[in-house]
Amino acid sequence: MTWSPPIIGSRPVAILGGGVLGRRIATSYVAAGFNVHIRDPFPQARIDALKYIDENKESYTSFCPSGRPSSGYGTYTASEDIESAVKDAWLVIEAVPEKIELKIDTFAELDKYAPKDCIIGSNSSSFKSSLMIEKVSEERKRLCCNVHYTMPPTIRTVELMTDGFTHEEIFPFLSEVLRKCGMLPATARKESTGFIFNRLWAAVKREILLILTEGVSDAAEIDRLWSHMFQTSVLPCQLMDRVGLDTVAFIEDNYINERGLDGSSTVGWLRSNYISQGKLGLKTPEQGGLYPPASVEVNPPLNSAVSASSEKQEKKEMPPLFLLDVGLGSNSPSYPSLAGISTNGKILRLDSPNSPPKALVTGLPAPDGIDVDPSADRMYWTNMGADVSARDGSLMSARLDGTDRKTLLSNGTLTTPKQLILVKDPLSPNGSEKLYFCDREGLSVHRCNVDGSGHEVLVQNPGTAKDIKHWCVGITVDLARRKFYWTQKGPSKSNQGRIYRANLDFLPGEDGSNRSDIEVVFEGLPEPIDLEIESETGVLYWTDRGEHPRGSSLNCAQVEGDKTVKLLARHFHEPIGLKLDLGRGQIFVSDLGGSVYAVDVKTGKKTVVHRDEGSYTGIVTLPEA
Ligand SMILES: *[C@@H]1O[C@H](CO)[C@@H](O)[C@H](O)[C@H]1NC(C)=O
Ligand SMILES: *[C@@H]1O[C@H](CO)[C@@H](O)[C@H](O)[C@H]1NC(C)=O
Ligand SMILES: *[C@@H]1O[C@H](CO)[C@@H](O)[C@H](O)[C@H]1NC(C)=O
Ligand SMILES: *[C@@H]1O[C@H](CO)[C@@H](O)[C@H](O)[C@H]1NC(C)=O
Repeated sequence: MTWSPPIIGSRPVAILGGGVLGRRIATSYVAAGFNVHIRDPFPQARIDALKYIDENKESYTSFCPSGRPSSGYGTYTASEDIESAVKDAWLVIEAVPEKIELKIDTFAELDKYAPKDCIIGSNSSSFKSSLMIEKVSEERKRLCCNVHYTMPPTIRTVELMTDGFTHEEIFPFLSEVLRKCGMLPATARKESTGFIFNRLWAAVKREILLILTEGVSDAAEIDRLWSHMFQTSVLPCQLMDRVGLDTVAFIEDNYINERGLDGSSTVGWLRSNYISQGKLGLKTPEQGGLYPPASVEVNPPLNSAVSASSEKQEKKEMPPLFLLDVGLGSNSPSYPSLAGISTNGKILRLDSPNSPPKALVTGLPAPDGIDVDPSADRMYWTNMGADVSARDGSLMSARLDGTDRKTLLSNGTLTTPKQLILVKDPLSPNGSEKLYFCDREGLSVHRCNVDGSGHEVLVQNPGTAKDIKHWCVGITVDLARRKFYWTQKGPSKSNQGRIYRANLDFLPGEDGSNRSDIEVVFEGLPEPIDLEIESETGVLYWTDRGEHPRGSSLNCAQVEGDKTVKLLARHFHEPIGLKLDLGRGQIFVSDLGGSVYAVDVKTGKKTVVHRDEGSYTGIVTLPEA
């Protein structure tokens, strides 16, 4: 039977569902010049979807082979009911929840309201479209298929698959349209549960479970091998923990049922050793998953942390704070040139709001970054030093009470080291703990062991100490994506601040001066300083000491997808340090003006927890043991 493609003209692509994925699919069509009509029953979802298209259509054109469409972007509207959304459509993409009865009824409705020549695609990942067509006409069955997106624009694969009746010519036609939208289409040549890629991925997961069941290896080692073999930061065991082991088991059940596999050593083992014991991965941080709890706890997810401690949230308790006084006095004009800085720097401990802080260490040369490890009874900090040309910056550690001070790195190895963090990385090839820090006038990013050994330069920018655009200041590590992020604040008040990232592991043959994996994540920022990421949600937080109104602020943004910068609070006086305390819904911010604030994440309300004549840089909370 012959088929001719629908005449597109100004007819829209209708997308059912304006959620996270639906709005991305819509944007890809608009960016390629196709008109779009979104249907979503929820008014807020419709508003958000249209706003997302407004803000992102331009960036999506960078994926289109012919760039920005010569005839302009497609138009886009949203409506509540299916009938008006699809009445003139040439293509409908259904992305309603994954319940087969709902899909069957939706297909019946679409068959009724969509034009006769309209192609109907399902975004389902778990159901073949052949299961959804029992209530559609014979004619329409030839126009239905699976059109499975993943997460554009980050992952742009789209897998197409027949429902058993689909006109063969539809696949090259849709593939051509998808390529115009910057997607990467692939067509399964016949019906297949899991299409192409999910089958591949299912096989990897299945074999990993067998390796674990037999006790041949463990999750961290498997991920380490995988990461090195394929030079990737996508780690299969970590990903299973992220998706949830219950979901992993549920997906594998489909294959077991369809193929009559023996699941006793795969999902059977997973159910009796993990799922039945409440070990589901990141959503059960206290029990852990394939990784033990300690490693999933590193960055507790925002939502679970907030709900787990919702009663604490009312009281807004303050954990003990360790605070660095750089030793300048609040009104020194010399910062950040460092001229004349002596050794007035201190480490202070603040146990409750607005109580007198206790000095743990004094006589430090311009301390800037601090982190603590209660389990080892140690704290670690950087000193910028007194003289840039002498390269007298240093890295030190001491017990939490300030005794047993040790110098880890000094004497010409560092110029002006800045923010420092301690990272417990279960995948680190040599021991699990590393100190990461930036060296501002050293134009570099570093990492070493907690005893100062194994010192590596992760990034070395070219230039001299006067090259302000190449100064590196703030740092954070994102274990979920296996990246570290750092700030290059740029010249004072110049709106040239940038946040970069690169992989935790070097690509072979590269070093800090020639690594090829550096990405700019944000640019044009007023003057970003210190960083901290909530790895689980991919939300990055930073202080900015640039000019009002955007600067002198606390900010956050997603590092992937919609990267719109959200300003959480303003009007600090040269803010430097920050420490997330999202379990209590707050973030601590310290500034050179002598204040420490608790900022409410939801409302942005600032509460002063300490204020005096000091000038504060690094800040960290002492987690409950
Ligand atoms: C479409 O498929 C993707 C991948 O399976 C899934 O994440 C997403 O939720 C689906 N979209 C909708 C709105 O059903
Ligand atoms: C740095 O050099 C000075 C003088 O040479 C020396 O006294 C000090 O012990 C050195 N510090 C370290 C940590 O090596
Ligand atoms: C590995 O760890 C040991 C013990 O901390 C240390 O002596 C050695 O220098 C480290 N090597 C590297 C490359 O980090
Ligand atoms: C990077 O630099 C190192 C030494 O500085 C050198 O051995 C290596 O070959 C360089 N790699 C590339 C890819 O240029």
